[in-house]
Amino acid sequence: MGAYREAYERSIADPEGFWRDAAADIDWHRPPQRILDDSAAPLYRWFPDAELNTCHNALDRHVAAGRGDQPALIHDSPVTGTVTTYTYAELRDATARFAGALRRLGVQRGDRVLLYLAMVPEAVVAMLACARIGAVHSVVFGGFAAHELAVRLDDARPKVVVATSCGIEVDRIVPYHPILAAALQEAEHAPAHCVIVQRPQHPAPLTPGRDLTWDEALDGAEPVDCVPVAATDPLYVLYTSGTTGRPKGVVRDNGGHAVALRWSMKNVYGIGPGDVFWAASDVGWVVGHSYIVYGPLLTGATTVLYEGKPVGTPDAGAFWRVAAEHRVAALFTAPTAIRAIRRQDPAGDLIGRYDLSSLRTLFLAGERLDPDTWEWASQRLGVPVVDNWWQTETGWPVAANLRGLEPMPLKPGSPSVPVPGYDVRVVDGRGAQVPAGTDGSIVIRLPLPPGCLPTLWGDDDRYVRSYLNAFPGCYLTGDGGRFDTDGYLYVMGRTDDVINVAGHRLSTGAMEEVLAGHPAVAECAVIGVADQLKGQVPSGYVVLKAGVDVDPDTLAAELVALVRQRIGPVAAFRRVTVVPALPKTRSGKILRRTMRGLVEGRDEPVPATIDDASTLAVFRDLGDAG
Ligand code: COA
Ligand code: AMP
Repeated sequence: MGAYREAYERSIADPEGFWRDAAADIDWHRPPQRILDDSAAPLYRWFPDAELNTCHNALDRHVAAGRGDQPALIHDSPVTGTVTTYTYAELRDATARFAGALRRLGVQRGDRVLLYLAMVPEAVVAMLACARIGAVHSVVFGGFAAHELAVRLDDARPKVVVATSCGIEVDRIVPYHPILAAALQEAEHAPAHCVIVQRPQHPAPLTPGRDLTWDEALDGAEPVDCVPVAATDPLYVLYTSGTTGRPKGVVRDNGGHAVALRWSMKNVYGIGPGDVFWAASDVGWVVGHSYIVYGPLLTGATTVLYEGKPVGTPDAGAFWRVAAEHRVAALFTAPTAIRAIRRQDPAGDLIGRYDLSSLRTLFLAGERLDPDTWEWASQRLGVPVVDNWWQTETGWPVAANLRGLEPMPLKPGSPSVPVPGYDVRVVDGRGAQVPAGTDGSIVIRLPLPPGCLPTLWGDDDRYVRSYLNAFPGCYLTGDGGRFDTDGYLYVMGRTDDVINVAGHRLSTGAMEEVLAGHPAVAECAVIGVADQLKGQVPSGYVVLKAGVDVDPDTLAAELVALVRQRIGPVAAFRRVTVVPALPKTRSGKILRRTMRGLVEGRDEPVPATIDDASTLAVFRDLGDAG
């Protein structure tokens, strides 16, 4: 039996033994005696009696082991023309001091700190500083607008907000201060303080008494040591799009997270201490949390924090320049980034300009990896291109080709096989397993392995309702797909109202709420339609209220601006069409899947439950035109 099969079968037959062994790679203040607490099933907790500190495991531990002079973090920022390296000792010292600064501002164990930061080293320092004192960070992606920030402020109720004065999008300065100010005005909850990282490109005005600069916060702050916390204490809350406008606060605990991420770095990504790992994502997303910050640092590897884009900073060779310059062993990004590079450099000429001899693997995740992109990257780079499938909720891969444990043949279109710890099943509408080759809902049998969400922030009920009720005993991933006869999984897309735009997860429900708020709109639907670069883009369809007489183009422009203003530029919402009616079932459910098929030009069957088949004509025409 191969190493993969052996590990997988043991992880399912004896999860406690499997994860007890994996836990030995973590430094515990109080090692786990119990491994899994199932007394409140379907809510499970890993390592219920253990204590540790995640920051200690990410920094202090490696300094103590002699890695103090090894680079821990390389900030490569083509948008500011700088490269800055922090050794493990430097990163520990910076973190210990900022932890002292947070303490002085009144942040205690269990308090939340909201981070709204560009891709700067302070983002990593602030996250680890929270972990150091047992505070709970909640990072909000910079591409979200004030309203989204306000919703998160009210849900997480942070004591302190840490923000950069601006972000830099290629060559455009995005001032964060007005967004933060508007969010604070809209939110009911008021943090006691805001710490602002002043960037010379665009310093922010400060509100006396509430705001202080990063430097002021640090001035005279005493470095503090790591505080032991319960393994089950929350490390962070990361909000992600659900099916409504209210995002879900995914909770990550300390113990399970540390164990799972360290295991995954070695076994999935094949990365060990001293290797350079680069996740070209953003700290605002789960990939950034897990594989820019925690995974590499828990491993004693060097991580790259890249403040730039795949193209335009300055060209489509940017990724290869960074990989060569920092001797990157593994690069992790989203397929859309590769598509963007390919569009500008179809022959991959720029790849040849750099010495990529250090690069062993390209990992891709965040959206479906189309076989064409896989093929292009594989051929041009000459290294394995490895798809891996997971979600904010799981925090680490559910399906992957385990490069460290046992590399297996790669199949285009499939993220390979279930990762040890995940009992993945494909089921039909009644929860019965379907045979290989048949599509269904992808579910994971409980308990989920360590590192996955134990619940949603402050809302066990919503956690159970959203994920556990559909198929009792199973976690609903929200993705559909199938297994093949070799046990390879094919993930074909979401079965709910979540879409993936350029690797960014967005809720069509949230966009519909914005459109429905316009006085001219009677009803609306937003669907994700296929896009060659971004995978999917949102497309809105609105029906006007009776008697309303507006110019459709003017209305469309207003609605586009409204979504940008409420949700943010990251929604990439640019298409709105005024239609006479939406296709619905007789019970009033909008037939989004049928609409999507027709708009994408497929010959969709007319659903038997449709109320009025003539409503389909407009969508068929749109498909024909596209
Ligand atoms: N702060 C402020 N604005 C941001 C932002 C941030 N952190 N990130 C994105 N935006 C803005 C962009 O400037 C853009 O604004 P615009 O509409 O005014 O042009 C909008 O949000 C959409 O951004 P993006 O999705 O990045 O699209 P793009 O067209 O600028 O670039 C790609 C296309 C493919 C190059 C880009 O999407 C990309 O690099 N994707 C990879 C995504 C990724 O790494 N995902 C993580 C999962 S691993
Ligand atoms: P996020 O929570 O932002 O990481 O988005 C998770 C969703 O992205 C999943 O539920 C999938 O729909 C999609 N996704 C992520 N990785 C992959 C992948 N490798 N293949 C197919 N879909 C993916």
